[in-house]
Amino acid sequence: MKLVLLGPPGAGKGTQANVLCKEYNVAHFSTGDLLREAIKNNSSVGMEAKVYMDKGELVPDEIVAKMITEKLKNSDTDSGFMLDGFPRTKKQAEILDQALAELNILLDMVLYFETNEETILKRLTGRRVCRGCGYNFHVTNIPPKQEGVCDFCGKELFQRDDDKETTIKRRIDVYNNQTKELIDYYQEKELLKKVSGDLDVDLLFADLKNIFAEAGLK
Ligand code: AP5
Ligand code: MG
Repeated sequence: MKLVLLGPPGAGKGTQANVLCKEYNVAHFSTGDLLREAIKNNSSVGMEAKVYMDKGELVPDEIVAKMITEKLKNSDTDSGFMLDGFPRTKKQAEILDQALAELNILLDMVLYFETNEETILKRLTGRRVCRGCGYNFHVTNIPPKQEGVCDFCGKELFQRDDDKETTIKRRIDVYNNQTKELIDYYQEKELLKKVSGDLDVDLLFADLKNIFAEAGLK
């Protein structure tokens, strides 16, 4: 399966991508994760990106597009992939179309996680991320067994710098102003499939598995 996961911040794109990628053995390319990795490594791209990310603004198209096109070119994508958080502007969508055409790859589906603002705020203010394996917990929705400690690797959990309430509000505005138009973009290409991001993790996962089965995606 070759998919794009589209939706507002906190819709659960990363959470579902993590379980789906294991279930279907496909690659997970998240621009947010790649950028955070670049920041951790103190790379020049990371330092440039951090300025935008801390404000809840989008990193310039050229930077993220280069990251993703390189990943697509240099990875084994035969068994499939999920793009999480990319594209996020019309320009990025056009760059992606061109890169996929050059690689002779056709997208199967764009999953749009429709999610209400109340859910987003609750999810993002309560998100806690593992410093070791990157797993996303939530203080009430998906709490770790021991407060502040990852169930899987035992490392410390932290709050993302951009998960502060004012930055979250800015990220939602940015999504509404710059990313939402991609819903129409992919609807016109007859690739869009809407799902409810408000559902519980397991219910949404079950829905997605049914959608893939109906579409014959493996
Ligand atoms: P990015 O990391 O992509 O952040 P985002 O889009 O804002 O999305 P999130 O990761 O916050 O949400 P998610 O949908 O993955 O939700 P999650 O599964 O974690 O981008 C960060 C920044 O990088 C951007 O602001 C921008 O600056 C830059 N950037 C990235 N890509 C870019 C691009 N293409 N162009 C330009 N700039 C770019 O879930 C959230 C929480 O809810 C978790 O705590 C989770 O445990 C919980 N949860 C998840 N699902 C459920 C559920 N179903 N029920 C209950 N709780 C749930
Ligand atoms: Mg994410």
